Amino acid sequence: MCGIIGYIGYRPCVPVLIDGLKRLEYRGYDSAGVAYIQEGEINIIKSQGKISSLEEKIYTKDPLHATLGIGHTRWATHGIPVEKNAHPHMDNDGNVALIHNGIIENYQEIKEDLISEGYKFLSDTDTEVLVHLISKGYKETNHPLSAIRYCLERIQGSYAIGVLFLDRPNELWAARESSPLIVGVGVGENFIASDLPAFLPYTKDVIFLEDGEIARLDREGVDVFSKESGGVVEKEVKTIPWDITLAQKGGFKHFMLKEIMEQPRVIQEALSGRIDYKNRSLILPELDSLFLPEKIHIVACGTSFHAGFWGKYLLERLAKVPVEVDIASEFRYRSPIIGEKEMVVVISQSGETADTLAGLRMVKEMGAVVLGICNVVGSSVARESDKVLFTQAGPEISVASTKAMCSQMIVLLLMALYFGDKKGTISKKIKYEIFDNLGSLANVLEAELPSMREMAKSLAIEYSFARSFFYLGRGLNYPLALEGALKLKEISYIHAEGYASGEMKHGPIALIDPSFPSFVLATKDNLFQKVVSNVKEIQARKGPVICLTHAGLEINVDSRWDIPYMGDILTSFFILPAEQLFAYEMAVYLGKDVDQPRNLAKSVTVE
Ligand code: M6R
Repeated sequence: MCGIIGYIGYRPCVPVLIDGLKRLEYRGYDSAGVAYIQEGEINIIKSQGKISSLEEKIYTKDPLHATLGIGHTRWATHGIPVEKNAHPHMDNDGNVALIHNGIIENYQEIKEDLISEGYKFLSDTDTEVLVHLISKGYKETNHPLSAIRYCLERIQGSYAIGVLFLDRPNELWAARESSPLIVGVGVGENFIASDLPAFLPYTKDVIFLEDGEIARLDREGVDVFSKESGGVVEKEVKTIPWDITLAQKGGFKHFMLKEIMEQPRVIQEALSGRIDYKNRSLILPELDSLFLPEKIHIVACGTSFHAGFWGKYLLERLAKVPVEVDIASEFRYRSPIIGEKEMVVVISQSGETADTLAGLRMVKEMGAVVLGICNVVGSSVARESDKVLFTQAGPEISVASTKAMCSQMIVLLLMALYFGDKKGTISKKIKYEIFDNLGSLANVLEAELPSMREMAKSLAIEYSFARSFFYLGRGLNYPLALEGALKLKEISYIHAEGYASGEMKHGPIALIDPSFPSFVLATKDNLFQKVVSNVKEIQARKGPVICLTHAGLEINVDSRWDIPYMGDILTSFFILPAEQLFAYEMAVYLGKDVDQPRNLAKSVTVE
């Protein structure tokens, strides 16, 4: 849940580290720091707050010419976000500096032992035991690999670490276990980072470290070792086709807005190569090699969970396959029953969400077949699933997930069509209708987005008085109501609850009064009239109503927002950006930090 970066090469390292940290800031932004070797000592500069505060501190220093360094941006777990708890941490001799993303579960007992041996702790973090253990191991063995192994053999938990040794100014060391870490391979320079955007301006050539691997980088090359045996591990260098422009704001004020507006392209990318429009058939080789499941279990968190929940309605409707959807943090601690011909589908944008990964590993141990739906190539979900359908959305930087859900929904729709086709549960007419509409969806959405943004802006201003919102929908629109509420609360800090509109009368309607608006999804489907009745129940209690609907549908509300109709399924691809834009404009109007909302981080790599 933090961002780490390391550099060894020929450039002054501090600007490279700062630049990379800014692109990792979505992973945590309560404090930051860098360490570099210059003039015979390890220098550490840390600051509470965002990278900009660190930058101000750094550039009051003498010119920095160090070419080896590490950097960290923190999302606090152990110890409050103050300077002493920011990374890097240093050993008592000033010989080892370390950055860490993860959690050391047995740090308390190790800390007590080390204190009794005379080690001094300067922070409240779990991380600090790592630097002292490595320092201790280094004194005993005088070898970085042995020292790191010495440390890692004694700890339990998750980590991605970067380590510098003062007397090894030509080496950068790294290791991982259950936290993301990749190595960037350049020419005359090499990198480590939690995520590719950190070093994307310099290289797209990547080595994916596996759990239990330790890497040694110098300017010319990278060696990887097994933590277990200490032996060399052969690794492949892969080129990732991401463009640096995808990891930049590209003229937009916020990443969130850029990513919302990118959704037409995201739809095209997620569909790309997967539909043969001429023969009206699907090309999903990842599914060809699996079986037709008798039941599907979907496991995910947050927005990815909402995509999965939306997928359940479609898979049951089009493919007639029963689907259970679970929040991963619940799934991993209940006792799910997974039969032989059943499949587990794990959905994650980052591919590193700790609860989702734990669910994946649990079912793998039970012998289940896992299909991953994932955005990040080389991530843990991508590597550990039996098959992966990549969502191909490009890097998502905004903490509030937007385009990822759009791409996940496309993939889930294709899956439902594929299974429906194979099982003969979907008529040609419906299939062809969806194919035809999918072919023009991106263009229609592209044309619509600018006016949707204008509408979102004026509604946000009109409803900025509200301290609470309901988001209501039925059927396919119910998961979208949950997502609309999540978006609003996470970036505008307005309380919002997503409900199945038919459930309102069983309790929540008690909250309705003139100050409590409802954002209702009343689009054209078999449940429209029932939603109209639910709206009337709210209006009878003087609750204001904003309604997403279509021109020509009869529904009287305070604020009506007409969106295009492309069949009830594809209408979801207009509801989603409408909700995202409303939340975005509300947060901007209220002056909130859209891309870095308080208390959150992009990938939740801790439990
Ligand atoms: O990377 P993942 O899709 O596994 O992430 C899951 C959630 O942490 C994520 O969707 C989170 O809820 C977002 N902040 C929602 O905007």
